[in-house]
Amino acid sequence: MAKAAVQHACSQCGYATGKWLGRCPSCGEWGTLTAEVTPLATKKKAAGVRKPILRLVDVEADDAARLPTGVSELDRVLGGGLVPASLVLVSGDPGIGKSTLLLMALAELSRHHSVLLVTGEESAAQVKLRGERVGGVDDVGVLAETNLDVVCSTLEDERPLVCVIDSVQTLFDPDIGSAPGSVSQVREATARLLRIAKECNIAMFLVGHVTKEGALAGPRVLEHLVDCVLQFEGDRYRAHRVLRAVKNRFGSTNEIGVFEMTAAGLIGLADPSELFGKSEPDQPGSVVTCALEGTRPILLEVQALVARSDLAMPRRVGTGVDPKRLAMIVAVLNRHARMNLGQSDVYVNVAGGVRVDEPGADLGIALAIASAARGLPVRRGLACFAEIGLTGRLRTVPQSERRLGECSKLGLESVLVASDTEAAGKIELARADTLRAALELAIDASRDPDS
Ligand code: TYD
Ligand code: MG
Repeated sequence: MAKAAVQHACSQCGYATGKWLGRCPSCGEWGTLTAEVTPLATKKKAAGVRKPILRLVDVEADDAARLPTGVSELDRVLGGGLVPASLVLVSGDPGIGKSTLLLMALAELSRHHSVLLVTGEESAAQVKLRGERVGGVDDVGVLAETNLDVVCSTLEDERPLVCVIDSVQTLFDPDIGSAPGSVSQVREATARLLRIAKECNIAMFLVGHVTKEGALAGPRVLEHLVDCVLQFEGDRYRAHRVLRAVKNRFGSTNEIGVFEMTAAGLIGLADPSELFGKSEPDQPGSVVTCALEGTRPILLEVQALVARSDLAMPRRVGTGVDPKRLAMIVAVLNRHARMNLGQSDVYVNVAGGVRVDEPGADLGIALAIASAARGLPVRRGLACFAEIGLTGRLRTVPQSERRLGECSKLGLESVLVASDTEAAGKIELARADTLRAALELAIDASRDPDS
């Protein structure tokens, strides 16, 4: 069947159909289908054309070819620097600092390489004003343009080593009928930029906006096209920001970069434990845990609040914690630590907008909830990490040695761990087999006003 010239495409998931529908059958969103005129494809047959096949042993790939961007936290998340000719999508809420971060990277890179900033959102003068705050931007090339044809031919002529497109949603191809930011425009722009990146050996950062639900605006197709997807998160009203890789063809997706937004741009925090791992002593519901973010152990303060609920189904709200994991921990506390939370709302928050997806934080979450529920603080100078099983037993977690090292570096006195965790360094260990035993060790019952 021939494709209709006018298609209706979903702006959320990219699903395309011939006729308009109120609800997208693919992602279930309402009112997201918009009409798009697809340009008539002139297809040349490639039948009969042959290309020689290479053996992998003959393919040249040099890991040393990575380009350090000079922003060390960004390099860490990329997996040790920018891979030449790769496409990196940087997404995040408006105002989070995407433009600032990438301008800083360009400023550093421009000291030794040719770089270009294509800006569709701000004028060259506005970029200059931002550059004055960041510093060192004198050699950064700027092109204020939104026409995709102009951007592509300029890139082919100039061939900078690194290019930033801010943002991919502002680019438009005049041959495509729909507005900038629509599915077909964003897809076309990314596909053409991808081709130029590979052909002209230009590493590109594409800035992409996210919708209020947190998905990348435009089709998910974008995420499949690019080599890396970096997400810039954090609270725009607070100073620190977390950069994480959602997808990385050339490295791990576990690394995070932590920044602080200051009047002179973003400053990388090489030691986020200093910032996030500070708890207020003697506060019920506050616990320090040591979680692993990629290869880096970070001390984090976990806070919990337990309050009587009027709801038939009490709330379990976790910020920075997986809701399923939180529900499980509450269930284990109920069943194995005799803690009745059935009539209570439970709120858990990880400091600094960091997300912990790692089982090592289980014990910290459980201790924070128990401490909040009993109104008793955990012992001073105590940190903890262990995984909690459904039977209520504690299990040791990978890289304990490095976590213990981080705890002693930050001046904690003792660490509560699972019994089979090996000691490392001079820091004192408190060992427990079960969650119940751990609660007894950590929470100072002698201060209980009820006993
Ligand atoms: P920006 O990089 O424009 O965000 P995005 O491109 O993700 O929309 O940064 C926006 C915020 O950062 C803005 O509110 C101002 C603030 N900011 C600083 O605090 N210090 C600075 O040096 C700069 C350049 C921006
Ligand atoms: Mg911006």
